[in-house]
Amino acid sequence: MKVSVGRKAHFNAAHRLYNPNWDDVRNVAVFGKCASPNYHGHNYCLEVWVKGEIDAETGFVIDTAKLRDLIKIEIEDRFDHKNLNLDTLEFAKVNPTSENISVVIWKILREKIPTAYHLRVRLYETENNIAEFDGA
Ligand code: NI
Repeated sequence: MKVSVGRKAHFNAAHRLYNPNWDDVRNVAVFGKCASPNYHGHNYCLEVWVKGEIDAETGFVIDTAKLRDLIKIEIEDRFDHKNLNLDTLEFAKVNPTSENISVVIWKILREKIPTAYHLRVRLYETENNIAEFDGA
């Protein structure tokens, strides 16, 4: 009997969407204002979902306090108030779209969460723009 448990977190970060192999005209055509050279910010909302068996002794799937601390240390402390393009190794050469950010976050957390759990991350760049990745 597997149950999914979720934890929300937030971080604020700046980025610029840009393909260095394209000229500015094409970048603006594809990325619009997101290609603006002076960057712009988002209030990212992150959901981390862990699915697994309920432990018979605790009644928990996972200790959400541990999940909270893991997300804080590995994700919020790493990306909050950063310029993703300039300040992080993860996006030095990867376009920081919400799709790519969700994959990076999943990979970071996957290394820290036991493989018995299915892991899914959902990243809200805005209320209306969402990316989700579960490793598949
Ligand atoms: Ni943006």
